[in-house]
Amino acid sequence: MIKVNVRVSRFNPEEGNVKPHFEEFTVEADPTEKVLDLLHKIKWEQDGTLAFRRSCAHGICGSCAMKIDGRNMLACESLISNLKDPTRVTVEPLQSLPVLKDLVVDMDDFFKKYEIVKPYLINKTPPPTKERYQSVEDRELIDESTKCIQCAACTTSCPSNWKNPQFLGPAALLKSYRYCFDSRDEGMDERIRILDNGDGVWRCHTIFNCVEACPKDINITWHISELKKKLVSREY
Ligand code: F3S
Ligand code: FES
Repeated sequence: MIKVNVRVSRFNPEEGNVKPHFEEFTVEADPTEKVLDLLHKIKWEQDGTLAFRRSCAHGICGSCAMKIDGRNMLACESLISNLKDPTRVTVEPLQSLPVLKDLVVDMDDFFKKYEIVKPYLINKTPPPTKERYQSVEDRELIDESTKCIQCAACTTSCPSNWKNPQFLGPAALLKSYRYCFDSRDEGMDERIRILDNGDGVWRCHTIFNCVEACPKDINITWHISELKKKLVSREY
């Protein structure tokens, strides 16, 4: 077991004028435990008022994304032994979303951007008697894009998004790719006005922060580039 100094960003709007600030806790932990375990130990053993989101604890639900030592990561996948210094860690809420309390951010704007790109299959052709067939090769085209867990680590790490909050951002654009490149989808005409403008794909300046932040190792920049190519070539 080792002693870990955990610096946590605290903010409670109900405390009037108290601005976001850091509080430090010392936690005993095994290096094979995760940052989420540290937060649980603080909440359960030292300060029950600490607020953070988590659910699955297995990198599936996407709710525990936060800044760990300055980088967007999932707390439930961040091993203490993999930290820069396993005896010290700094934990902050995701950047550029309003903080509701401590590490909990308001995700409303983030999910509104998903709604804008129409994240569902659009197909007005009458369905065949069985399923709408998709070949193995066509499925492979969208395979990687289906792995997104909507944690917001990518969008909140994107400098274009920090500068222009109206930018759809990498997560919504990746979701858009997932449907625009689905061989069964016929919704490109409906999505083009959303994607082909200053707040759409062209606001992505290929900065790659999103790729670095993605806990599922999705090459989001490549997917956005494919969307750009599709818009330019008008192959739809
Ligand atoms: Fe942002 Fe990723 Fe593009 S970080 S600018 S969406 S490559
Ligand atoms: Fe579900 Fe971390 S708690 S991804």
